[in-house]
Amino acid sequence: MLFIGIDLGTSAVKLVLMNEKGEIRNIVSNEYPISFPHPGWSEQNPKDWWNAVKAGIKDLLRYEDRNDVCGISFGGQMHGLVILDPEDNVLRPAILWNDGRTGEECDYLNNTIGREKISKYTANMALTGFTAPKLLWVKKNEPEIFKKIHRIMLPKDYIAYCLTGVHCTDVSDASGMLLMDVENKRWSKEMLDIVGISESQLPIIFESSAVVGCISKATSLELGLPETVKVIAGAGDNAAGAVGTGTLEDGMCSISLGTSGTVFIASDRFSVDSANALHSFAHANGKYHLLGCMLSAASSNKWWMDDIIGTSDYAAEQAGIDKLGENNVYYLPYLMGERTPHNDPKARAAFIGMTMDTTRSDMTLAVLEGVAFALRDALEIARSQGLKITRVRLIGGGAKSPLWRKIIANVMDVKVDTINSEEGPGFGAAILAAVGCGAFESCEEAAAKLIRVTQTTEQDPSLVAKYEEKYRNFRLMYPALKPVYAELAE
Ligand code: XUL
Repeated sequence: MLFIGIDLGTSAVKLVLMNEKGEIRNIVSNEYPISFPHPGWSEQNPKDWWNAVKAGIKDLLRYEDRNDVCGISFGGQMHGLVILDPEDNVLRPAILWNDGRTGEECDYLNNTIGREKISKYTANMALTGFTAPKLLWVKKNEPEIFKKIHRIMLPKDYIAYCLTGVHCTDVSDASGMLLMDVENKRWSKEMLDIVGISESQLPIIFESSAVVGCISKATSLELGLPETVKVIAGAGDNAAGAVGTGTLEDGMCSISLGTSGTVFIASDRFSVDSANALHSFAHANGKYHLLGCMLSAASSNKWWMDDIIGTSDYAAEQAGIDKLGENNVYYLPYLMGERTPHNDPKARAAFIGMTMDTTRSDMTLAVLEGVAFALRDALEIARSQGLKITRVRLIGGGAKSPLWRKIIANVMDVKVDTINSEEGPGFGAAILAAVGCGAFESCEEAAAKLIRVTQTTEQDPSLVAKYEEKYRNFRLMYPALKPVYAELAE
């Protein structure tokens, strides 16, 4: 039995092939373009995702008997708006999770309708990346397109739709649309009225490990797969990543250092904090989770390495850096504005504190530290709500860097575990496919059998103390710059 996990990321799709014993047999990755049509906007073409997925599946199975494939599932970049007309044409490029164009729409939802009401309906407040404000933006700015909308879906659900013809989503990803009553896992009638859409335009909501259907005849012919291949609803990439790291028990925490940086806390119970400081979403295991999300995590490092200093050898660039806790340069990682904790699409990145003796290494280190400080901002919200977080599981591209792991452990004062699979959301998606096909009874059973901690980075008390002071300085910077950001955005 073979299972395919598709992690539909922001820079690339990663496909993981796993057998019924949980062994990874192959991994394939295909990149696609992203466009930034205005500062702070970000879009992708859903057709590029689908082409990359099809090519990826063919590559993934090159040395396998395709008749062994039983199930396909997903972890997908969340919140993106994909809209189709009645003939299934994509009406406009997808507006992605890190797109900040909907400031006015969020103001309308949070201030005119009122945050308390929105939170009562959806368990969350309106944030620029979420899907409902994007629908309001299209309604106002592209009314001809809005009128033609026949189906609304999230990025990974577009792939499920291409594979099966079933218009579906899952509870974890639907949580980030600001259209679902998260506690009861059904569309919110009130929100649909506010946005001006009907339930028939929205996907059917499934639990993450539920089978939504089998692949269509056309897909089966195109990909050379049997028509019996089941498609399982899957999850938003953070919930899928949490399945892939075994972050399932109440209170467990994982941190993802991908394009976005997220702090994910599994929870047995539904809960919302009074300030909506953390997102309150459904988990892929039938329960719930809290999430804090910064918008430019590993992407800050990628930007610094690729675009600014022009190197592709990240490890070599970090190799000489050994003196931690003494850097006088600070980096604010707000390349795309910021979500948690500032909810400010106008924020921008900055380096602060350079002197004539500042080196390239100091700035490289500042980028890694700035991302760690920004992630700590999210962790501190959870701590302020009484959650005791002393250990985290780290995933995402950034988790591969020993230097970044050490910085995270000491900035956050936590033990940082890495596990036997680095494929977070893709592995989680393959597990969801296996659970959906009955190879495991539950995500918990699969996690207990398949996931183990391979390495722990411990904090060093003297470094924790040094970083505590640096973090206090970091906290002073955004409030000081906020009026400048507002001015620059005029
Ligand atoms: C979570 C979020 C990001 C994307 C990245 O709320 O917006 O983590 O899911 O793919």
